[in-house]
Amino acid sequence: MPNKIPARNRVLYPPARQETQLLPQQLIYPIFIQEGTEKTPINSMPGQFRWPIPQLPSLIKELFSLGILSVALFPVINPNKKCPQGNCAFDKDNILFSAIDTIKSTENSIQIVADIALDPYSSDGHDGLLENDVILNDATVEILAKMAVCFAQRGADILAPSDMMDGRVAAIRAALNKASLTDKIILSYTAKYASSFYGPFRDALDSAPKAGDKKSYQMDPANRSEALKEMALDLSEETDIVMVKPALPYLDIISDLKKHTSLPVAAYQVSGEYASLKAAIQNKWLDETVLEESLLSIKRAGADLILSYGALEWAKQQ
Ligand code: PBG
Repeated sequence: MPNKIPARNRVLYPPARQETQLLPQQLIYPIFIQEGTEKTPINSMPGQFRWPIPQLPSLIKELFSLGILSVALFPVINPNKKCPQGNCAFDKDNILFSAIDTIKSTENSIQIVADIALDPYSSDGHDGLLENDVILNDATVEILAKMAVCFAQRGADILAPSDMMDGRVAAIRAALNKASLTDKIILSYTAKYASSFYGPFRDALDSAPKAGDKKSYQMDPANRSEALKEMALDLSEETDIVMVKPALPYLDIISDLKKHTSLPVAAYQVSGEYASLKAAIQNKWLDETVLEESLLSIKRAGADLILSYGALEWAKQQ
């Protein structure tokens, strides 16, 4: 019997009609950590703060109750502790460590992503070691591997090299294995572009390069195939998750990586993306639903996980 009901009358159950779904568990909330007891607003990132340790428990409880189960931590380091080698990353009193302890004792199942790069700790503000204005790749990789082991031993679950040095994933994996930290996850910043969208983040951490830019190690925004080359390297070095950064201006790259790996793909909706959406929303030039639309677009392009400063706000709106 042919079906006599006209096609236009067949209504699909709504979740089956909406191809892309966003869940709080797929979001990772980046948190800036600072010393002291007061939280201070970040002017270029409306709604975002530098958080002092004593106020972290309430934030963590709120995130957890909304279903956001992962956070990425970025410490604001006192400028007089910084040196060209970034040694203060290993100091017992690195504020990152007390943040990890506080978060884990508030909610033990929260997954903590620790960024692996020199820039928050380096007086040069670069992700690697500088010699005569040139980044030293291999010497930097050695420090990054030590950092990854140190942060993992201090309780970080996911190590996220954001530096773009060559060979760092393999070095970090070998160092973690050697230290019997075989359960730790590596989330590699696989395709990280030399983008102007990082401006507000560098203000928040006061980590802008003192001289030069990051173009010698971050990718050229004009390049697409190169992202696949970078991914092939990271896969051969045994990363667990690959990441594209920034997100919205690089949806083609997210889609490319998703097509060429079965590993989870993450995307970082960076500070400048958040700042531009928020500025337009505050001016009433755009409706606040653009935040969800941007997150859905990133998801639709192929991201399994999204780091976003808008994560908390989005989850609260659900
Ligand atoms: C540093 C790092 C940066 C971001 C995350 N890790 C900045 C940079 O590369 O200069 C940017 C995140 C953002 O803009 O939100 N290695």
